[in-house]
Amino acid sequence: MRKSRRARDKRLRRVGLDSPGNMVNPMPLTETGGTSMGEKYVNAQITDQHGDSSLPVLDGTLGPAAVDIQTLYARHGLLAFDPGFRSTAACKSAITFVDGDQGVLLYRGYPIGELAERSSFVEVAYLLMYGELPSAEQLAAFQESIHHHNMLHEQVMSFYRGFRRDAHPMAVMVGVVGALSAFYHDVMDIRNPDDRMRAAIRLVAKMPMIAAASYTYSIGRPQRYPNNRLDYSANFLQMMFGLPSQDYVPDPVVARALDCILILHADHEQNASTSTLRLAASSGANPFACIASAIASLWGPAHGGANEAVLKMLMEIGTVENIPKAMARAKDKNDVFRLMGFGHRIYKNFDPRARVIQAQAKKVLEHLGKDDPLLDVAMRLEEIALKDEYFIERKLYPNVDFYSGILLRAMGFPMNMFTAVFALARTAGWVSHWLELQHESHGIDRPRQLYVGAKLRHYPEERKPKLVKK
Ligand code: CMC
Repeated sequence: MRKSRRARDKRLRRVGLDSPGNMVNPMPLTETGGTSMGEKYVNAQITDQHGDSSLPVLDGTLGPAAVDIQTLYARHGLLAFDPGFRSTAACKSAITFVDGDQGVLLYRGYPIGELAERSSFVEVAYLLMYGELPSAEQLAAFQESIHHHNMLHEQVMSFYRGFRRDAHPMAVMVGVVGALSAFYHDVMDIRNPDDRMRAAIRLVAKMPMIAAASYTYSIGRPQRYPNNRLDYSANFLQMMFGLPSQDYVPDPVVARALDCILILHADHEQNASTSTLRLAASSGANPFACIASAIASLWGPAHGGANEAVLKMLMEIGTVENIPKAMARAKDKNDVFRLMGFGHRIYKNFDPRARVIQAQAKKVLEHLGKDDPLLDVAMRLEEIALKDEYFIERKLYPNVDFYSGILLRAMGFPMNMFTAVFALARTAGWVSHWLELQHESHGIDRPRQLYVGAKLRHYPEERKPKLVKK
């Protein structure tokens, strides 16, 4: 079987296809991304004079202003080219603000450091979803609705049994969260604000059991149910690590550190997974299916999968003596190896989340009396990288994922659950963006492209008789 597949692959490669329909050598793009580049430029000038070709400049409350190019194509027949969205504001949003140069992260205006220190994940989820910190009564009511919705329909559990028992928890989460759309579709109307809020709360409430069950299924342990005497993070811990046959008392220091991790990961404005969610939701798709698409995007090692990749990298480095070798590989352009947990598309100074998480990692290791040699490797690696010209020049600093893996490991989370914990936390942000975009009036998202493929050509006359079956 395997042999015949290899033979087929070889055959396909010989004719330029690695698998049916996939070209090994697609038409190459030139450096500029096109097959040719004309010598034309648009010279933009910011003025207070309004003219025929003017484009308005929009100010936000914080951060850089944005040129409104919505009429660019209609008026000038031009598209804006910005692959990777390095200079594109794809929407207006009032949820989270990031200033990458200053290392600032605000949820609804509140600095992340203050929230991590003083708030709880449930309160932060409320803040993100509703826009304001809750009163005591509002928080109690919100907590109650989370308790009310935190169990999974028993039939959902049968979805788990369809997966290979060693399936990666993120693969399971993509599938199970998407499958929830089968349970909550006809009963909800996304034009109804109450239905929308119920869907958002259901997602935040159910995610701990979904994530925990992804793990317990993989090790063959029966799944515990939520315990409404516990708070959100402690509840997640008991579902992850408790046995149905025994009492499980979550460690309050560990539960608090986990709550802190969830707060730090709860939102991060228009990152890849949130943008995936927005794009999926712009068609009016079911919210559970939209969140599944965001989870899929988060899984990649350049995004939420980095925390798992960091730990694998630290284990591979192993000891402080091996750091110079790893540094040399990270800087070598012919080597695909990168220092995982370093660099960020937005943060070019420091990631404010990384500082909080580093302190939490030390605190939890101390509390648990654990001495993790990987923490020494991580701290030394950070010290060396921060003094290295390559990293200084490119403004590469440790990001949130650099220490979160060490912290999660100390708490007992297996490596393949790290990104699942991230997904659980980010659900609060995703549902907030989903709620927010329901008020947008720009319709379905539909990016354009700079087409660089073949010009119009016709199917060769002589091929027709051979290929068309009579
Ligand atoms: N190690 C070595 N070199 C790096 C690294 C790294 N971790 N990150 C970037 N560079 C180099 C890159 O090779 C390039 O060099 P040159 O200019 O010589 O070609 C330069 O720095 C700019 O990199 P880039 O890939 O254009 O930057 P980006 O903004 O597109 O990518 C990133 C950001 C996070 C994907 C990238 O830094 C990276 O892959 N980091 C490792 C993965 C990681 O830790 N991801 C977690 C991000 S935080 C969690 C989240 O928000 O999801």
